Amino acid sequence: MITSIDVFVPQRHEPEVRARVRRASVEDVEAMAGLINGYAADGLMLPKTLAQLYNNVRDFVVAEADGQVVGCAGLKVTWRDLSEIVSLAVAPAYQGQGLGRRLVEPLIKEAQTLRIPTVFALTYQVPFFTKLGFLIVPKDTLSQKVWQDCVTCPKQSCCDEIAMVRVLQKEQ
Ligand SMILES: CC(C)(COP(=O)(O)OP(=O)(O)OC[C@H]1O[C@@H](n2cnc3c(N)ncnc32)[C@H](O)[C@@H]1OP(=O)(O)O)[C@@H](O)C(=O)NCCC(=O)NCCS
Repeated sequence: MITSIDVFVPQRHEPEVRARVRRASVEDVEAMAGLINGYAADGLMLPKTLAQLYNNVRDFVVAEADGQVVGCAGLKVTWRDLSEIVSLAVAPAYQGQGLGRRLVEPLIKEAQTLRIPTVFALTYQVPFFTKLGFLIVPKDTLSQKVWQDCVTCPKQSCCDEIAMVRVLQKEQ
């Protein structure tokens, strides 16, 4: 006879964060600005104005958990052969649980769909991007088109971010 003790109940291994990664909407923009500009104040990334985020909201994905936006990232098309991961941010309490990866992967997929062969990032987060298959390259190997934003960047004359590139497989 089977007692309740004999019944095998498989353990469900839920991810630590129940988060949904989805396309951004205009309703997310203020929270995105809060995340991005919080890290920008610490010099970790470039600040973004609300206008820049509204203008480019279609470039972004967000991670939503516990009813709030806890992460964001964008894919900016630079040129025919190049696109950039921009404004990648995960709220401190939600870091280290795979959300950064879950934000970047759909953007890489999108670059593939757009038939853009290379994605780059300018970053201090070398271990993170290495885990996602990016390699460090000399900055001067990136096209001049990359540097169009530098005019407005507070670090323009002393840029110490590291250039990392991932070359994509062609989609079948
Ligand atoms: C960079 C950032 C987005 C990473 O987000 P995250 O959710 O913590 O990253 P994940 O948990 O998805 O990490 C993915 C992998 O990278 C590794 N990783 C992430 N940060 C790491 C670090 N600082 N050192 C070593 N490995 C790291 C993780 O261990 C994980 O490895 P695994 O897949 O083998 O388990 C987050 O730390 C952040 O928002 N930082 C502040 C803002 C910033 O610097 N943004 C980047 C601008 S370019």
